[in-house]
Amino acid sequence: MNLSFLLLFVLVLVGRGVGLNECQESRCGKHGPPIRFPFRLKNRQPEFCGFPGFDLSCTETQDTLLELPTSVKLYINTIDYASQVIFASDPNNCLPRQLLNFNLSNSPFKFGERFQYDYVFFNCTSIDRKIYLSMPCLSVTGYDVHAFVTDGFVSSLALTSCTKMYNVSSVPMEFISRDNTLHLKWSKPACGFCEAQDKYCRLKNSTRFETECFDKPKSSRGIGIKLMAAGIALGALLIVLVGFVLYHIYSSDKAEKENQARVKKFLQDYKALKPTRYSYADIKRITNQFKDNLGQGAYGTVFKGKLSNEIFVAVKMLNNSTGNGEEFINEVGLMGRIHHVNVVRLVGYCADGFRRALVYEHLPNESLEKFIFSDDGKELPLGWEKLQDIALGIAKGIEYLHQGCHQRILHFDIKPHNILLDESFNPKISDFGLAKLCSKDQSAISMTTARGTIGYIAPEVFSRNFGNVSYKSDVYSFGMVLLDMVRGRKNKDFTEASQVYFPEWVYNRLDKGEELRIQIKEENDEQIAKKLIIVGLWCIQWHPVGRPSMEAVVQMLEGEGNKLTMPPNPFASAGPARMDANALGRHLQQELAVIFETEGS
Ligand SMILES: *[C@@H]1O[C@H](CO)[C@@H](O)[C@H](O)[C@H]1NC(C)=O
Ligand SMILES: *[C@@H]1O[C@H](CO)[C@@H](O)[C@H](O)[C@H]1NC(C)=O
Ligand SMILES: *[C@@H]1O[C@H](CO)[C@@H](O)[C@H](O)[C@H]1NC(C)=O
Ligand SMILES: *[C@@H]1O[C@H](CO)[C@@H](O)[C@H](O)[C@H]1NC(C)=O
Repeated sequence: MNLSFLLLFVLVLVGRGVGLNECQESRCGKHGPPIRFPFRLKNRQPEFCGFPGFDLSCTETQDTLLELPTSVKLYINTIDYASQVIFASDPNNCLPRQLLNFNLSNSPFKFGERFQYDYVFFNCTSIDRKIYLSMPCLSVTGYDVHAFVTDGFVSSLALTSCTKMYNVSSVPMEFISRDNTLHLKWSKPACGFCEAQDKYCRLKNSTRFETECFDKPKSSRGIGIKLMAAGIALGALLIVLVGFVLYHIYSSDKAEKENQARVKKFLQDYKALKPTRYSYADIKRITNQFKDNLGQGAYGTVFKGKLSNEIFVAVKMLNNSTGNGEEFINEVGLMGRIHHVNVVRLVGYCADGFRRALVYEHLPNESLEKFIFSDDGKELPLGWEKLQDIALGIAKGIEYLHQGCHQRILHFDIKPHNILLDESFNPKISDFGLAKLCSKDQSAISMTTARGTIGYIAPEVFSRNFGNVSYKSDVYSFGMVLLDMVRGRKNKDFTEASQVYFPEWVYNRLDKGEELRIQIKEENDEQIAKKLIIVGLWCIQWHPVGRPSMEAVVQMLEGEGNKLTMPPNPFASAGPARMDANALGRHLQQELAVIFETEGS
């Protein structure tokens, strides 16, 4: 008999008095999650101990098993009762295999990840590059199974060596990653608030599914019984203790070894998840000796490249002069982990001596800048409907960066130049050289140097006097992009030409109910323009707290424009610290240059 169980039993006796509660919290194995309401152990506890859909059982290997309605079986590794989340894994270490049968519609659980994608699965004879959503557990020798998000990129892949297997829709990324961990959440019964008060939860009345909180079981019996129990316990305890200590020494050693193996496995898997590493020779071949120059950026030159007949990429060769390689580490580290239709995809990278390159999916239409600014007053090719779609796409991309990953990703360089457009003009955020990671509950982050591009930087980023730097700084930049889209001309040109700061001008117009004097074609256009302006003005509020989160921005952009309220005037004087919003606008270039120099030194 397992000695630690005996010990547990004895302790329970002491704790509870002699009477045992049939809904008592239990576990399948020593390291298993505690099982209590709304979960119950199917074969050990009566039905009223749990809630429908929450039945668990123990396997012979002491794992905790959950059976979903469509005969999908998962091991439960952790139950977070307060957040109402379970962390589950596939017993055979192959979650993707369960995908086709996976159907949560008749279960109390939902995917925990907010962001879900449609994937198409391919069975490929070994293709020459690793795509980081390959699934070794489905592969057989000579044939690899890959999953692609069904977006623009997959349509540009001619997978000649692949056959399509099937599509799946609305699946979170973690389902097909190699971590073999899936988190599911439940909303009913809502017992989280009991846990938050340090209480437990149970059914009020087993015939109606209502719940109530109750105090955690404590020793409550008469003192005599307690003493007796303690007496029995003490005797048993002494016997058990010696054995237990010996057993524990043995098992903790084993647990430690298991932990090490787990970490090692994680690191291996993580390595496999990352984008492909290329040698410099590969890069030369891919770019055909750097023949096709796509453009020059602050950090290096971008070349067009070709991975195969149909797969084109943009290869960004980074300047060697770019200091300590922070930008490179930033981009590879971040981009390898994130995945969203509105974020450009990193296919691979090269770090060969001093030569560093980033390999991205190639987007034929280049950046948004090209499509919203027309130098010579020519008519712009994108209509207002399309501009609105683009705005929404960018907003969703930034929202994903802020909310969709374990850590918040702050971009710090949102501007039209960094928004790429695919063949259907879907926007994709690129250039993560200035990005920073921070935890989600962090309200302010520290920065040693100002980051960003003049005209789009939030006030607090160039001077800490104006507030704390946070995710709201990206919101500001996004607001400026929105206003740029409406204006359709370069900030600089506008300022120089008319000495009027567009955001302020447009605020005053709207505020007074005057006409906007922008190019309008369809009837709906004015509505859209107005919506983009109002959302933009909300985003560029001087104080970070006055700006909405990206989630709210997405809602505003998806909603009806005429229901939006006008924001407070971002340019009104509000105290001495605020000196110069207007001046800033008008003389943005010069003023910021001065601030940069004084801050940088
Ligand atoms: C999931 O199950 C429900 C009910 O059984 C069914 O209506 C639905 O089509 C299923 N969904 C999938 C994706 O199979
Ligand atoms: C992929 O195709 C090969 C050849 O047809 C087949 O043997 C293999 O089982 C397939 N893999 C999967 C996961 O279907
Ligand atoms: C599967 O995805 C492909 C690629 O986007 C799409 O063309 C096809 O229509 C999808 N098929 C189904 C049945 O959804
Ligand atoms: C539970 O609810 C039923 C129906 O409302 C009622 O008849 C019964 O007395 C209740 N039982 C308890 C223990 O409250």
